[in-house]
Amino acid sequence: MGADRDPIEELEHRTGEALLGEGQERIDKQHQAGKMTARERLAILMDEGSFTELDRFVTHRCADFGMAERKVPGDGVVTGFGRINGRLTFAFSQDFTVFGGSLGEAYAAKVCKIMDQAHKNGAPCIGLNDSGGARIQEGVESLAGYADIFLRNVLVSGVIPQISAIMGPCAGGAVYSPAMTDFILMVKGTSSLFVTGPDVIRAVTHEEVTKEELGGAVTHTTTSGVAHFATDTEEETLLLIRELLGYLPQNNLEDPPLGPTDDDPLRLAKELDGIVPLNANQPYDMRDVIRPILDHGVLLEVQEHYAANMVVGFGRIGGRSVGLVANQPAVLAGVLDINASVKAARFVRFCDAFNIPLITFVDVPGFLPGVDQEYGGIIRQGAKLLYAFCEATVPKITIITRKAYGGAYDVMSSKHIRGDMNFAFPWAEIAVMGPEGAVNIIFRKELAAAADPEAERARLVQEYRERFANPYSAAGRGYIDEVIVPSRTRQKIFTALEMLRDKRDTNPPKKHGNIPL
Ligand code: HXC
Repeated sequence: MGADRDPIEELEHRTGEALLGEGQERIDKQHQAGKMTARERLAILMDEGSFTELDRFVTHRCADFGMAERKVPGDGVVTGFGRINGRLTFAFSQDFTVFGGSLGEAYAAKVCKIMDQAHKNGAPCIGLNDSGGARIQEGVESLAGYADIFLRNVLVSGVIPQISAIMGPCAGGAVYSPAMTDFILMVKGTSSLFVTGPDVIRAVTHEEVTKEELGGAVTHTTTSGVAHFATDTEEETLLLIRELLGYLPQNNLEDPPLGPTDDDPLRLAKELDGIVPLNANQPYDMRDVIRPILDHGVLLEVQEHYAANMVVGFGRIGGRSVGLVANQPAVLAGVLDINASVKAARFVRFCDAFNIPLITFVDVPGFLPGVDQEYGGIIRQGAKLLYAFCEATVPKITIITRKAYGGAYDVMSSKHIRGDMNFAFPWAEIAVMGPEGAVNIIFRKELAAAADPEAERARLVQEYRERFANPYSAAGRGYIDEVIVPSRTRQKIFTALEMLRDKRDTNPPKKHGNIPL
């Protein structure tokens, strides 16, 4: 401490030093790279002036490779807590301007402290990632630090929401912390996420790929499904985190917050009466069914560009958060394939963990046939979605808008797997398979022997359709609670949500189930 400074001046001096990190030059370089600093990001993420920084003067204890002479207060990560839309939120923001944001022992301890506080206080934890990974000079200490974080990611999983924004490099084993959080957001052009980079890949597999192609925001939100959202700017990512948190409870013991309720929950959605084509082979966009039933038509779609044959996202009905899961007839006829099953399964489990009711819209021709699908394990992957819906104990409301064929009928939150309220539009077709396929199989001999096979086929298809391809066979057994006029869907869902407000359901006591991973 400078003997000639009074203690308050000394604090101010040290604070100024800490805020400057490794210097203005590095901050300028960060800006030139199109990136904000760790603190600038937190200022946008948190409600204005609400962020309290902790551990600002922490430094590393490494003495190797000249590190004893190179200590920077804060050690390359800014940690603390603040408010988002008035609600307590913890965050850490990696500071690329200090040691490239690389993680060592002291740095990891700062992150763990924040995660522990978030856990104890039942509030979300947000990680803003921008780092060169394990601090090479610290060796195994930095690997230990990562493991300490990974363990916490898992222990708080399902207890508090965890959200990761990738705002710079994130490579090697470091990727596994974001991977174990609930949602990953990436910024196009400036963020990357990969286990091994282009150079290693070139050396090992001789494949040529750029950083952006390999692990950029577009790749991970369209091809790999690793990330959930891609934005054009850092600011958009930070604002999107705020929006996303608005749908979520603070922790697993709370209900999600109530949003504005100025959209009449009993409002008719007239447009729904004409949206679904009666011809089962004609596509339509399921989002045109979903949006009109949500408050102000607002749907926050998750993984919009990955496995687009399945739509998942958040919305509100009567101010209450709901999770939407829907087959998308506009893409691959809404078929269930590996990617769609896994995408929806993870979303269903998230909603169930955080008390968010599930609204499922069904128009599904079945599981996708194909050698690739079988070799890729559609049996195991499709089972994930079945498992997730079976296990979920939150209110579950299902609307069959048109086709519900085969095993996919069972999987998509059917009555049999604890659907609470199952509705069907009047033209819904619930059957083991579509009429044409069914007739070809069960009347093969009759068709072969018929004088006019095409006329006979048409007659049998019509007969099958009248017998099975309608909602009344299922409704006659109580598998459909109510056949509804589409324009009343919002009313029906709202009334069901009210009825289910205090729903209590449990699974048998066990250590944990064995989801087919
Ligand atoms: C220590 C690091 C560092 C690291 C970057 N720096 N990564 N210091 N450990 N892992 C330092 C650089 O030395 C440099 O310091 C400053 O950060 C900025 O880095 P630059 O290279 O100048 O920046 P840039 O050109 O933008 O490149 C960024 C980068 C590159 C792509 C991240 O630095 C890089 O490839 N770093 C190494 C990445 C890596 O292999 N990490 C280990 C991954 S394995 P000076 O003072 O010179 O400016 C891993 C395992 C985790 O993380 C295990 C968990 C189980």
